[in-house]
Amino acid sequence: MPETKDEERSSRRTFMALTAAIGGLAACESGTEAPVAGGPRHLGSTISPYSERSKYETTTRFMPATKTPEQASSRTPLQELQGIITPSGLHFERHHAGIPDIDPVNHELLVHGLVDRPTIFTMDDLKRLPSVSVVRFVECSGNGGSEWTAPGSTTAQLAHGLASCSEWTGVPLRVVLEELGVQPEGRWIYAEGADACLMARSVPIEKAMDDALLAYAQNGDALRPAQGYPLRLLLPGYEGNTNVKWLHVIKVTDQPMMTRDETSKYTDLLPDGKARQFTFDLDAKSLITSPSGGQKIADLGFVEIRGLAWSGRGLIERVEVSVDGGETWADAELEGPLHPKAFTRFRLPWHWDGSTAVLLSRATDETGYLQPTVDQLIEARGKNSNYHNNSQKSWTIAADGSVSNA
Ligand code: CO
Repeated sequence: MPETKDEERSSRRTFMALTAAIGGLAACESGTEAPVAGGPRHLGSTISPYSERSKYETTTRFMPATKTPEQASSRTPLQELQGIITPSGLHFERHHAGIPDIDPVNHELLVHGLVDRPTIFTMDDLKRLPSVSVVRFVECSGNGGSEWTAPGSTTAQLAHGLASCSEWTGVPLRVVLEELGVQPEGRWIYAEGADACLMARSVPIEKAMDDALLAYAQNGDALRPAQGYPLRLLLPGYEGNTNVKWLHVIKVTDQPMMTRDETSKYTDLLPDGKARQFTFDLDAKSLITSPSGGQKIADLGFVEIRGLAWSGRGLIERVEVSVDGGETWADAELEGPLHPKAFTRFRLPWHWDGSTAVLLSRATDETGYLQPTVDQLIEARGKNSNYHNNSQKSWTIAADGSVSNA
């Protein structure tokens, strides 16, 4: 029963719209009314073997113009997406030597070093082994690199779009290593990609035996070429660069191999001149995606504050939201099912009264770690390194409803 005049009017409108639609159907059946040419009731297009999104949907990755195509990155439009899965075609990219063209029939994985039975696997061999599917995020450790200095990037995509979340399918690396027999001196693995720069990283054996995955599928489909087709290493919660794409070699070693990408790059220089190395885990982060920079609140009244949170150390336990620049905080609702080391969607209903407001979010993960402010981060680590910025991101809402990073 409608309780107010407004609701009564609204339900009457709905009822009238429904009857009009039913009337239209009847007319169509009896053939007395011709469909409008080109409209929804015109004869539709044919089916196709592989579908594209609607031509009215234009969301894309952001690609900076400053890098060569081979050393490119692209950023996921986090503020345009729903739920927790990033569509494969919008997953962020970071390449150092372009995207290789690999025929899976010819692709092999060599596993050797400190193992009893060195073995070469074809893709068919790998797909016969026991498999799992898990929802996990991948994030470049350079994500948030613009946020060391206020006010940071102007949009959610520019600030934190080097992160995406997919359902990945593959063989647990542990299954392969146990089958081949790791020798007692085997403390690390060396993983190498088949791309032109031979991307390579060293990973502790504990991680390899924990949740490392030899992944061949993403969101129910084969990996996209840009995501390592036909095989990548997935190291949930570890910085993106270690998730070696186009994987073709794993060598079990007794120490890290000190590759280019773990010495000259992907180390974090501290204020005292020393550097942190092998900083693998990505700390808890959250980001309000709506309303966020570049958007505009259409009208006074109800606004659902929406965002994403993730932690490389496990489950997101709590996300708090502030609308007064961090003076007071309210608990957002976390949308289940919750996956560890995965995007977690949060929501908080809000009433916007037309005054200026500063929105912030902060996440706590299952280890009890609380996402820091940028000042706390700088106090701990200085400003010499671009990597691992997981600080709280603020958005300012102006009186006209426009949202910016001001
Ligand atoms: Co690192």
